[in-house]
Amino acid sequence: MNRKKAFIFDLDGVIVDTAKYHFLAWKKIADGLGIDFTLEHNELLKGVSRVRSLDIILELGKVEVFQEEKDKLLVQKNEDYLSYLVDMDESEILPGVMPVLNFLKEKNQPIALGSASKNAKPILEKTGILSFFDAIVDGNDVVNAKPDPEVFLHAARLLNVDNEDSIVFEDSVAGVQAANIAKMISIGIGDKETLHEAQYNFKDFTEMNSTFLEFLINE
Ligand code: BG6
Ligand code: MG
Repeated sequence: MNRKKAFIFDLDGVIVDTAKYHFLAWKKIADGLGIDFTLEHNELLKGVSRVRSLDIILELGKVEVFQEEKDKLLVQKNEDYLSYLVDMDESEILPGVMPVLNFLKEKNQPIALGSASKNAKPILEKTGILSFFDAIVDGNDVVNAKPDPEVFLHAARLLNVDNEDSIVFEDSVAGVQAANIAKMISIGIGDKETLHEAQYNFKDFTEMNSTFLEFLINE
């Protein structure tokens, strides 16, 4: 009989290809403030909340703005980001994700979302995969952002699975660190060097075969 593990997925950059839209929207904000913002800087923002992301950009550019202006920039960023999602459908799901979700469902393994995004639910709805998730923890549910493990601990609790039996798929450094702090199994999806703190690394889900998933379930 299969053991029950908790499979916790980050959203942006793991399930859907939205990391590029976050970057474009932040780039527009940074350009408007005269701040140089590169793809390398963008790695610092992955997995990080919207509010903290703006602070990081302002720190990078050594720019100070009043709270009122910050609030406006946050609204502007989100409106711009959402404009990229208007026509979003299942084609935005990253390669290899569906076979992994289907395999885990077939094996009756609990699946959760553990995302910093406040836009998570509409994205899961638009891409048609909401029903795969037994629990959803997103930016609306947590106080402390990754690398704080709150989001993943909350997800494991909802699935009624121990932290040590939880597996986290992440594309961000902050998220991998959060999983490690929670004593969960961290799986980096993306650049191996950037995500070197992860226990296992895959360029994307197409590289992950059913033997590895079986191993995670039975380990
Ligand atoms: C994370 C992204 O998943 O969600 C970050 O990696 C983003 O880039 C964060 O800032 C918050 O997302 P949102 O959709 O609430 O602005
Ligand atoms: Mg991510």
